[in-house]
Amino acid sequence: MVLVSGTGSNLAALLAVHDDPAFGGRVVGVVADRPGIAALDIAREAGVPTAVVSLKDFDDRAAWDAALTETVAVFSPDLVVLAGFMKLVGASFLGRFGGRIVNTHPALLPSFPGAHGVRDALAYGVKVSGCSVIVVDEGVDAGPILAQEAVPVLDGDDEGTLHERIKVVERTLLVDVVGRIVRHGLVVEGRTVRIGA
Ligand code: GRF
Repeated sequence: MVLVSGTGSNLAALLAVHDDPAFGGRVVGVVADRPGIAALDIAREAGVPTAVVSLKDFDDRAAWDAALTETVAVFSPDLVVLAGFMKLVGASFLGRFGGRIVNTHPALLPSFPGAHGVRDALAYGVKVSGCSVIVVDEGVDAGPILAQEAVPVLDGDDEGTLHERIKVVERTLLVDVVGRIVRHGLVVEGRTVRIGA
């Protein structure tokens, strides 16, 4: 199960491998927090069922979170992958799926959490950034780290060029981590996190 908000390059990377039995799992559905995004087209072209749960259609965040939870639960997912999903999931979602939600973030956490990780890293002046795949908890990009990969910042980089270079590495890392989880399981004990052998 993959949750998206944007262009869907990470989703596309997962869909590129999910027919391969060696990968060990399938994308059973794609849920977006907004209509009309490229990620939904990518899912439909791959024949994967989609749903949209927009915050603006609900009275408050808790009602949206409850609807998101119910929508995702219909797919009975073993694992929920936030692949460029730009909303924080809430208590209801964490209560149902906690411990089996992973997120990808375009910076080396715990530095530069939040919606503007690439911009913030660049503004700080780091010479190396990268991407992180984490287990989602109630914090903002604060959950236990599963995997990270570094990407150098080059002279002349702007947010767009750096983010594109990070995304190339990010999608490979995400596919690798998700594949290992679906094949071997994920064990979360507090901040200690382990993919089974
Ligand atoms: C990724 O870099 C993700 O980490 C960030 O937004 C980007 C989403 O890209 N939050 P895409 O929608 O998978 O192409």
